[in-house]
Amino acid sequence: MNDLAPHAYVEDPSPGTGRLRPRAAFTSDLPVIGLDGDWRFRLATGLDDLSGDLAAPDFDDSDWDLLAVPSCWQMTGLPGEPRYGAPAYTNILYPFPVDPPRVPRQNPTGEYRRAFEVPDGFPATAAVLRFEGVDSAFAVWLNGVRLGDGKGSRLTTEFDVSAALRPGRNVLAVRVHQWSSGSYLEDQDMWWLSGIFRSVSVAARGVEDFFVHAAFDHTTGRGTLAVHVTAPTRVSLSVPELGLSAADPAGPHTVDGVEPWSDENPHLYSGELVSEAGERIPLRIGFRTVAVEDGVLTANGRPISLRGVNRHEWHPLTGRTLTGDTMLADVLLMKRHNINAVRTSHYPPDHRFLDLCDEHGLWVFCEGDLETHGFEPGGWHRNPSDDPAWREAYLDRAARLVERDKNHPSVVVWSLGNESGAGANLAAAAAWIRQRDDGRLIHYEGDWASCSYVDLYSRMYIGVDELAAVGRGQEAPTADPDDDARRRSLPAVLCEYGHAMGNGPGGLSDYQQVIEAHPRLAGGFIWEWIDHGIARTTEHEDSFYAYGGDFGEEVHDGNFVADGLLFPDRTPSPGLVEYKKVIEPVRIRIDPAACRITVLNLHHVRHSGYLDFRWTVEDGGEPVGSGSLAVPATAPGAASTVEWPADLAAALDAARKDGSGHEVWLTVSAVLAADETWAGAGHEVAWGQGMVVPAAASSPFPPVAAVAHDGQVVLGSARFDARSGLLVRLGDLELDGPRLDVWRAPTDNDLLAAFAEPQITAWRTAGLDRMRHEVLRVAPDASGLTVTARLAAAGSSSGLDVVYRWTACDGPGGDGIRLRLDTTVTPDGAWPVPLPRLGVAMSLPGTDAEVEWFGPGPGEAYRDSRTAARVGRYRSTVAAMQTPYVRPQENGNRHRVRSARITAPGGTLLITGAPVIDLTVRPWSTRALAAAAHRHDLAPDGRLHLHLDHAHHGLGSAACGPGPLAPDVLAAVTAAFAVEFSTTR
Ligand code: GAL
Repeated sequence: MNDLAPHAYVEDPSPGTGRLRPRAAFTSDLPVIGLDGDWRFRLATGLDDLSGDLAAPDFDDSDWDLLAVPSCWQMTGLPGEPRYGAPAYTNILYPFPVDPPRVPRQNPTGEYRRAFEVPDGFPATAAVLRFEGVDSAFAVWLNGVRLGDGKGSRLTTEFDVSAALRPGRNVLAVRVHQWSSGSYLEDQDMWWLSGIFRSVSVAARGVEDFFVHAAFDHTTGRGTLAVHVTAPTRVSLSVPELGLSAADPAGPHTVDGVEPWSDENPHLYSGELVSEAGERIPLRIGFRTVAVEDGVLTANGRPISLRGVNRHEWHPLTGRTLTGDTMLADVLLMKRHNINAVRTSHYPPDHRFLDLCDEHGLWVFCEGDLETHGFEPGGWHRNPSDDPAWREAYLDRAARLVERDKNHPSVVVWSLGNESGAGANLAAAAAWIRQRDDGRLIHYEGDWASCSYVDLYSRMYIGVDELAAVGRGQEAPTADPDDDARRRSLPAVLCEYGHAMGNGPGGLSDYQQVIEAHPRLAGGFIWEWIDHGIARTTEHEDSFYAYGGDFGEEVHDGNFVADGLLFPDRTPSPGLVEYKKVIEPVRIRIDPAACRITVLNLHHVRHSGYLDFRWTVEDGGEPVGSGSLAVPATAPGAASTVEWPADLAAALDAARKDGSGHEVWLTVSAVLAADETWAGAGHEVAWGQGMVVPAAASSPFPPVAAVAHDGQVVLGSARFDARSGLLVRLGDLELDGPRLDVWRAPTDNDLLAAFAEPQITAWRTAGLDRMRHEVLRVAPDASGLTVTARLAAAGSSSGLDVVYRWTACDGPGGDGIRLRLDTTVTPDGAWPVPLPRLGVAMSLPGTDAEVEWFGPGPGEAYRDSRTAARVGRYRSTVAAMQTPYVRPQENGNRHRVRSARITAPGGTLLITGAPVIDLTVRPWSTRALAAAAHRHDLAPDGRLHLHLDHAHHGLGSAACGPGPLAPDVLAAVTAAFAVEFSTTR
């Protein structure tokens, strides 16, 4: 132990030594010396490999590498080989033996050095050295003087440098340990990354701290402002817009008629604190009061509904080091997708992110840097949450969370942390927060079973039935009747739901309906915002995103780290597009029978007047009219109904008379009338659609005879193989298929299940991944061709009997044949498992093709994730129709397609659903898709693989949550579906 003594702080549960008390993050006009940039860096393998004289100002580090500060050292060198260690991913497990507070002696340790100049005039005798984020423990020396050490990776640490800082050249040395006692408190589900990953600076010290209290009384419209300042000199407050000039900050100042802050109207009053010493500190004040009233979560007296996401800080090249632009991109993307709330899972973000939330309007659950989930597998044995040895660390983390971020109006809830079990240290942290800040609520999901020290009944991943029971106040009682009474008085939130891993989540609209039906339900936060994929390039220059296991980790959780609504490059996934539609704050309903449009305003405070409403009429997907719709400004919670205006009625009449035979659709879209801070005028917020004219029934087929000839069956211009019954040619187009197909490349939700047996197990047991297609009979007759077959797996007595009935007629335009396939499927034997899909698969030559379709789009859609798809005519390519999930899996389905045209080099295939068909086209097979671990494992195989599906099993959210709801389960029952084919030259 002796040889470790100088480094005892690494394993000591204490949060640090020599640190200043925590305080608010703020800027002032006092000088600051930024220390971001290149530092000298050396990665030591562990505590036995440290540089003895690291701290000495004259230490020669000239042959050390240069490393950017801020950065995570394991991300250096990417997308090529990581230069220092490698990222490692685990969800729950600690990547070392659980023996708190001990950590491995093989403890990668970054040694950092940097010289900097203190300019003349800088108040060196009153300055602090500030680290905004260092993962996970560190010790600091300035000019050879040890300032102290710290932990709490995502929290600010400041040291007093008055005694060590001098004008001219200074040398800073920092030793950063990957593992420390703090690692036991930082077991968040994310990559283990280390280093000085947020900014470092030396700042002149003036005003120490201040706490802005700005409440709003909705009954009077009055704001109350009190700013509690800690400073060595007198400080005054000015807020010109409120008529406050050089006032006593503590007030309290009551101001009539203030405009309250909310996510929808994030009004900030600019102010200033001015100290007698001349220091000026800009303020941005938002008046708002958050409360629980009659069991409902309210802000400024009105219920709020959280349409949120859980956000980790992530960038595929820099890990948890983000630029301001990336933070802004996140906020803008959230606002543009109707998201109004963020939980900063599971640590306080870079504080600049919260500035953006204040400015653009997002409700924030600001969470402490705390998770001890890795104790759960051991039955929570020695969990720090209930061990007095860690009490100081818990209180320290709570205080540093609250003190740093207490001046953000966007922050309405303090969250103690995540998945840290239960225990006295959590209760103590909550009690500390409560006495320090009575203007916000306290959240910790881990206390859901008693809710004895939290203000919200928080749950994660429960199904819609349980959620509805909670909404009705009918949840199962807690063990203690007092707790039970208290819990029933609390609003409920889903701190996590809708696990967005891979293709999914399904069922978001089901959740939203339940949330909107029950005032007790304050909404929730999707898990999670962004896939934490790491950008890599193969030796063949293929790019891909790495996940757990790709860096050779001994224990890891694979692609569970890629479970966001954004792909790693921040492209919205179909899940985000779906979420935007599901949570739209304005609902537009079209009633074609009554010729009316109803607009329901679900906003918290905003009238609908900031939106322009526009209508478009499309006939078979081609626009035939558009115009604007006058909708009276509708108050939040209210609805307006408008009759169809004359120009719209005229356009519809014309479309009706035109008699194209196609479906005619009316789309009404609500767009921003003027620029907002987060999107420009014209940005679409919400839309609604209604079918005004259905498609004309297609004319019956005059039958054509099928003739066997030369090993083939000829039916019009279609040629079938007489033995296999497969279609081999249609006109000039070579084809192979169709065959009944029930298998899909498993989605993450098919493969994993947090709370039950994964769906894949039953599917594999039933052999659905190895079904054989056995043709039993090929029978041409005077009016068509009948092929009978059975799809079954080796060893299984259950099968799907299938009859393909082919009929043909001359095409309407005389340009070929119209070929119709009626498929009837009858399960035989026991079928206890749902089918992944039910449809036919075929292929044609080509590696890419143009695809045009009429039906819902433009993105992929599945039966329980289809709200965002609107009926229209879309054009794309096979390549562009593949959704780039980080781990390849079933994707790209276009749902309920009416008709499609696939233009491949070998010819054009027209497909018409009779009446609708799900369509997937991909340049590789399902087998190849299922076998691929990363995108670059997939290459076009020369065939275009076409799936025409009657139905898919729902997506659900089983990877962490419930599977598809009953109506979205694809049971194996008798089914019939039809599709027509034709070609053009
Ligand atoms: C939750 C946890 C998150 C994440 C998620 C699954 O239990 O709070 O951090 O691990 O599951 O992706």
